[in-house]
Formats: sequence, structure tokens, C-alpha cells
Amino acid sequence: MRRSSDLTPEIAEESAWWRDAVFYQVYVRSFADSNGDGVGDLDGIRSRLGYLELLGVDALWLTPFYRSPMADHGYDVADPRDVDPLFGDLAAFDRLVADAHEHNIRVTVDLVPNHSSDLHEWFQEALQAGPGSMERARYIFREGRGFDGSQPPNNWVSVFGGPAWTRVPDGQWYLHLFAPEQPDLNWEHPEVRADLERTLRFWLDRGVDGFRIDVAHGMAKPEGLQDMEIRTQVPGVLSDDVHDPRFDNDGVHEIHRMIRKVMDGYPGTMAVGEIWVKDDERFAAYVRPDELHLGFNFRLVEAGFDADAVRTAIEHSLAAVALTGTPATWTLSNHDVVRHVTRYGGGALGEQRARAMTLVELALPGVIYLYNGEELGLPNVELPDWALQDPTWERSGHTERGRDGCRVPIPWEGTSPPFGFSTAVNTWLPQPNEWDHLTAEAQLEDPGSMLSLYREALEHRKSNAGFAGEELEWYGAPAGCFAFRRKGGGLICALNTSGASVPLPPGQVLLSSGPMDGDQLPPDTAVWLV
Ligand code: GLC
Repeated sequence: MRRSSDLTPEIAEESAWWRDAVFYQVYVRSFADSNGDGVGDLDGIRSRLGYLELLGVDALWLTPFYRSPMADHGYDVADPRDVDPLFGDLAAFDRLVADAHEHNIRVTVDLVPNHSSDLHEWFQEALQAGPGSMERARYIFREGRGFDGSQPPNNWVSVFGGPAWTRVPDGQWYLHLFAPEQPDLNWEHPEVRADLERTLRFWLDRGVDGFRIDVAHGMAKPEGLQDMEIRTQVPGVLSDDVHDPRFDNDGVHEIHRMIRKVMDGYPGTMAVGEIWVKDDERFAAYVRPDELHLGFNFRLVEAGFDADAVRTAIEHSLAAVALTGTPATWTLSNHDVVRHVTRYGGGALGEQRARAMTLVELALPGVIYLYNGEELGLPNVELPDWALQDPTWERSGHTERGRDGCRVPIPWEGTSPPFGFSTAVNTWLPQPNEWDHLTAEAQLEDPGSMLSLYREALEHRKSNAGFAGEELEWYGAPAGCFAFRRKGGGLICALNTSGASVPLPPGQVLLSSGPMDGDQLPPDTAVWLV
């Protein structure tokens, strides 16, 4: 068994290493396939550690690789303490952790405490045991409404579309905030807690450096399970005004305190929660000193390419953590949202804006979460209907295409699919032929590529004293633009989202996201000055 204490001296020396770390999210299915079945796996990731070191990231976040029937591609976990054969085995996991540590890259893994798979042995036992049983008490089973119980217990909808309840043959209903194959666990039940504690220790004892906690604002459900206000809203999008009774209930904090207690026994480890909570104060509650080390703040994901919107997102993200002592986290893309090149307009314009936003993000104080492929400038892919696999597609009656478009396997090298991702011709999602110029190989030696921009920017972020300190000060700037300065180190970052070139703030240009217009900052461009 490996412990964090086995790390090389450089890596072990600083226990709060995560405070300004650059994390790289590996969507395991889509990163690299070592055994030719068209699906990425743990040995595949290990084979690309050299690339990740060259890129300059500090830590990985691996999406779920646990035993799973894959109804939600691993977020439906049948055994949280084993590796699904699709991705390898525990020995492959141990090899990956050992080799990543050799490369001075830490490894964090996903945890899915809100729900299990319907094929988890607990849920199968619950189905067998029947109403009122101890086995059912680990999940959220209720009688239906209406004289014959044929209506769901409340009006909650699933995040993936359709009702959040499914009826079982004996007439009871069970709750699933996501797919029916993902029954919600009952967090009032002591065995549910005890089991998560066992899972935490299982992976910590194997040497992981931390966790990403899925749906960290879920788990606790409100007493009485009252109806929700139904609104036409894109799933996952943060709402400001109405409290959604499915999420962010106060009981959740006790669970995070339990998690923290376990982690405090493993110095140098950390947990980040997926917290789709917009209110700054409610967000801050998750990162109190005895709760999570970090919370994902999704405001930057939600802001369009607009200087005012981006500034507001930054200010709120900083304000939310200002009184907690935890750093902010910054994310432009992940496996649940449209890739940002596409969100910013797609094509050459989307790429140009993505380059600019990368410099904005990497200039900020705190923790960065990159999503695999963003360093190659991958756009979202318009997949044909036959290729779609996300449960959202079926559950929405083919109205929402779901998240597959941001999960297409990474193009590594060569001139046609599968671009070195796999030896299989049929990868689990098809790659577009046009990705030949976006491969890691094509970009590595090209100084103008997206990959080179990331490498250079990450190198500066690590080594340049301008990035010191956690506070920002904002300069006055023309409409559609902003400029801020890192108070501690002095780095200045300016962004132009307007339609015309603007004068630069004073300073020497350290890096720009695109060509300058003489000594002016052109539209759709950001610059770093020292
Ligand atoms: C989180 C994950 C998402 C998954 C859902 C259910 O939002 O990021 O991919 O589908 O939880 O586990």
C-alpha cells in the first residue's frame, strides 16, 4: 500500500500544495486507450504521463473508473472500491499512482456519494426485500400519491429529464435525481455514511492525493420531500432566485464534516466539491475550515465572452471564498458542459477567444481545473444521432442532445481517426476527420498552437514572481474591456471583448493570446504585462 508519505521529497514538502495547483481533468473513457477496445483506460493514462508533465500540470482528477454498468458512464457506481474491467484493475491503478508520483503529478479521484448504480448489491437487496425493510431504508423509497399510489410521491424532475421517481413492481417508488439507474442513497442511514468512510480510506490508503466529490450539494434531502417549483431551465444551470429543494439542503454540511475528519488523518490530501450553488454565502458554507478544502465555482463557465460578465464572475468567485481562507477555483470546461471554444462562437473566432480566456483564467489567484483536450483547443462535436450515448438524449425524448459532444476521445497523433487514441477503428464516440490539425503531435512543436500557449502560460504561472498573492485590483478600462493586477506580485492581465483595439495598461508584455495591434490590444485578445 502506498501512502502520501511515499511521495518524492519535492512533492511531499508542502501539505497545502493544492492552494495554487493546476489540476487536469482526465475523462477516463476518452483520454487514451491501451488495450484497443475503443475506450480509454488507466494504463492509457499512464502512457501519457510524459505529455502531462510537459504540459505542466500539478495533479490529475480522474473521472469514475469504478465497477459500473455505465448507464451514466461510470457515475453509476456498482462497487466504489474496485476498478471496472473496462478501465483496468487495482494493480493498474496502483501503477498509475506510482508513475504519476514519479512524474511529480498528484492523483485525485472522483467520489459519487449521492447515488449508487441500480446494480449495486444494496439496491438489488432493496428490491428483493420489499417495502418497509431495512434494505430499502438505505435508499429513498416512498408510497405514491393518488388513491392507488400510481402518482410519484412528489413532482421532482430528474436532472436528465423526466420524473425523478421510478415505480417498482410492488408499487413503491424510489428517488433518482439523475437516471433511473442511479438511485439516490439515504444519507440519514448510518451504513451509508460508514460505507463512504470505508471508500475514502480505501483510496487514501492506496496513495491518492484527494477527491472530487460528485454532486456535493446533493445527498441531504429536505424533510417531507415537498414539491419543487418547475421551471423551464437548462439542466445544470445555476439558478439565482428560487431554492431548489433537491439540492443544497443544510444537512449536507454534516456529511462534509465527516469527510473532512477522515481526510485530516491523511495530511497533504484534499477534497473539492461539485457545488452548483450560486449564492456566495451558501457557497462559502461548503468550504468552512472543517468542511471541503475547495469548491468548484462554475461562474466562469456560465459567463459569456463579455468583459463585464467575466469580471462579475471573477468578483463573485473571489467574494464567495474571501472570508473562508480557501482559494477560489477556476474552470472553463468540464465533461458536463459545451467546450468553451464552441461556447465562445466556434471556429477561428471561438479559438481566438478561448486563447484570450485561457490567459484570463491562468492569471487568477487560486486553483485551476483544466479539462482534457482544452489545451488542444478542441471544440464540441456535433455527433450524429446514432452515436449519442448520454442518458439525457433518451430521457429528454430526443430533445436534449446531452454531453457527448464534449467527451469525444482525444486526438494524439497521425492524420486520421482514431488519431493514436486507440488501435481500434471504432472508438466509443467517433472523432471528426478535421481533427488532424488539432492532434497533440501537430501542436507540440508549433509555437503558435493552443498547446504551446498553455505550456508557456503554465510555465510563467509557476515560475514568474508576478503571480504572487491572492488579491486583485481592477483598473479603469474602456467599455468591453478590463484589466486587473495581482496585488502581491504585480502581474497585469487585460482582456478586450470589444470590437476595437484599445491602449494597453503600462508594463512589458509577457505573453499575449494573439498578435498585438502595434502597441494596442486588439479585439478578442488578452495580454499579460509585468
Ligand atoms: C455530476 C457529474 C455528471 C454526472 C452527475 C450524476 O454532475 O459531473 O457527469 O452525470 O453528477 O452523477
